[in-house]
Amino acid sequence: MVKQTRPEFLFLQQEDVIEAGGLDMGMVLERTEKTFRMFGSDELIQPVKPMIMLPDAYNRRYLMVAMPVMMKGDVNQAGIKWAAESKDNAERGDLPYGIDVILLHDVERAIPLAIMDGSLITAMRTGAAAGVAAKYLAREDSEVVGLVGAGVIGRTALEAIGLSVPNVKEFRIFDLNPEKSRRLQKDFSDRWNIVIADSLESALSEADIISTQTTTTSPFIKAEWVRKGTFFAQVGANEAEPEVHLQADHVVVDEIEMVKRYESVPHRLMVEGKLLEENMAHLSDVLLGKAAGRTADSDRVVFLSHGMGSLDINVASAIYENARDRGLGQTLALWDKTVLELG
Ligand SMILES: NC(=O)c1ccc[n+]([C@@H]2O[C@H](COP(=O)([O-])OP(=O)(O)OC[C@H]3O[C@@H](n4cnc5c(N)ncnc54)[C@H](O)[C@@H]3O)[C@@H](O)[C@H]2O)c1
Repeated sequence: MVKQTRPEFLFLQQEDVIEAGGLDMGMVLERTEKTFRMFGSDELIQPVKPMIMLPDAYNRRYLMVAMPVMMKGDVNQAGIKWAAESKDNAERGDLPYGIDVILLHDVERAIPLAIMDGSLITAMRTGAAAGVAAKYLAREDSEVVGLVGAGVIGRTALEAIGLSVPNVKEFRIFDLNPEKSRRLQKDFSDRWNIVIADSLESALSEADIISTQTTTTSPFIKAEWVRKGTFFAQVGANEAEPEVHLQADHVVVDEIEMVKRYESVPHRLMVEGKLLEENMAHLSDVLLGKAAGRTADSDRVVFLSHGMGSLDINVASAIYENARDRGLGQTLALWDKTVLELG
């Protein structure tokens, strides 16, 4: 009789993820750029992610998203991220706004390979996506970044943009909660000049790059604050007023299907026929030289980030390999001896 296999997998809590390199922005930037290139080369399978927004898309307080992926090529890793957001958390302050779990999957044995905290990986890869976009879409001589929203993603966007655009010298941060800006100032002042702006206008008035990552559902960034030549990464879905998108010379997206399907200002502009798919480009195609990003220093370029599961799975794969090699985490099993029929 064939001996039963005990379906074991590795469980990594956030501390293990950090120990395995989860805060290494250099590694995450590399994996993020590679993932965009794979997306543009059909080297991954990524069904459009289903989302549940409660009570509804317009007043969303709670969000749940499933993001299944199969990465091909040398990554060769399947997995899924379950992502959740809650405004209650942000208001109470006892849990992060976004909490995520990543499951890596063993395709041939049909069992989980690893289950890990995905909250930190999400934050890192989301900041990194803004960094990679800035590397290819911002002017090379960009020095000043206006950073709006200094929470979890604000922190990673700051580091990723700072590392990706060599001439960046200064971040001007605006957050409704100045304490959040002060924390970033304390943590990053040794690497860049960090200014806490007392208004949105002063954060943006001399910005070459703008990155917004707030939890707002009411647009507040005005077109006149976005100067010619600016690169604008919208990482939260709703910060920019419609005119910001309409005046852009180029609108670049991570995944167009997300803009087409899910409620946001750019989605509404597409539905109204004001923002046309043929005038938008995928970041992956810009990286591969298949589409134009910035064509002149005076161009205003907007990047719409919605988040792709492949970014998570590629980083999680690196974390898993490192953790396994170093004996981190806990080995768990789905069962010791199954009661299900075998064979
Ligand atoms: N595109 C992606 O892949 C992706 C991935 C994860 C999260 N996000 C989005 O990023 C955003 C930020 O998430 P987070 O985890 O950093 O949340 P967070 O709660 O940690 O931080 C949000 C910050 O925005 C500030 N804020 C809210 N409204 C503001 C306003 N009108 N002006 C200035 N500051 C304001 C808050 O004070 C807070 O500090 C959310 O919209 C989230 O959905 C995007």
